Amino acid sequence: MLKYSIYCLSFSDEAYGFYPNIIFFRRDFMMIKEKLDEIRAAARKRIEGSLDLEKLNAARVDFLGKKGELTAVLKGMKDVAAEDRPKVGQMVNELREEIERSLEETKKRLESAAMEAAMAKETIDVTLPAKRRPMGHRHPNQIALEEMERIFIGLGYEVVEGPEVEKDYYNFEALNIPADHPAKDEQDTFYINGEMLLRTQTSGAQVHEMEKGRLPIRMISPGRVYRSDEVDATHSPVFHQVEGLLIDEQVTFSDLKGTLTQFAKELFGADTRVKFRPHHFPFTEPSAEMDVSCFKCGGKGCRFCKGEGWIEILGCGMVHPHVLEMSKIDPLKYKGFAFGVGLERIALLKYEIDDMRLMYENDVRFLGQF
Ligand code: DAH
Repeated sequence: MLKYSIYCLSFSDEAYGFYPNIIFFRRDFMMIKEKLDEIRAAARKRIEGSLDLEKLNAARVDFLGKKGELTAVLKGMKDVAAEDRPKVGQMVNELREEIERSLEETKKRLESAAMEAAMAKETIDVTLPAKRRPMGHRHPNQIALEEMERIFIGLGYEVVEGPEVEKDYYNFEALNIPADHPAKDEQDTFYINGEMLLRTQTSGAQVHEMEKGRLPIRMISPGRVYRSDEVDATHSPVFHQVEGLLIDEQVTFSDLKGTLTQFAKELFGADTRVKFRPHHFPFTEPSAEMDVSCFKCGGKGCRFCKGEGWIEILGCGMVHPHVLEMSKIDPLKYKGFAFGVGLERIALLKYEIDDMRLMYENDVRFLGQF
């Protein structure tokens, strides 16, 4: 077998022997070198062409693994002449390192590409419209109440609450409605027992406030009231009132008129006119009902105000001296005025709702309109 062959190479450092420009190699050495070059090219192709880490790992096994190509070369070392072995060993090691480096670089590249792809998937488009969550709405009653509270707080009033389960005394007697008074029949009352009842009006809150003995008083008291009425477009067994009370020295009917006129203008608009009609309530003397000019037609008369031009919105009057006395307030020193407003009535008017039953059904299509 021909043991030597002549190769002409320009890389003198890879030469086995050197003669001016002509380098001599042993044939098996050259075969190994060729084999290593083949492996190098194949490995580069496989590694660089790996599209994912799994394929890259398979390439590692195929080139560097126990049954891999490079290991096979090492196993063939026994056929290499002893003097060539160090050089072959060095070349195999260099190739191994080169392949490892290339594997490592490709691994990093694939990992960062995978990371980038994952990040791209997670990208948030901040210009997309937000998902709308269904939102609750304030009830028209609540909107009207907050408006009324805002107006009276602006006039120096405080908001207090009275009990819904009430003694007969606070709901009737202390308000100058004795047992045999016809007003007690007018208001069909839910009694709990002989003494306790569900309040038929918020006026009892006046008595609780006066009994505290802190004067002067400027308060409004909103809350639920109960009457055994049948449900229809204008009645409900449970509805809401807002009571008002002012007590001080030298209070006159003019103060009442001025205060409630201001209230009406703020609630229904600055053009609103008011009218006080004489009326009767047991706990006020004199008493009146207040009408406001129809805010739909301005007072000319329309379907909304039933051709009247006026709409009744509240009851009021000067606190009856007997009522003051019963709550231990000296009627010679103190005077006061009071008023009571139906909250639903205000909300129905203000938002032009034509059936009170809508207020209690809690249909979100209705509530969403306010
Ligand atoms: N409590 C009365 C009612 O339920 C309303 C009322 C009228 C309250 C005149 C008052 C008032 O404070 O002065 O019909």
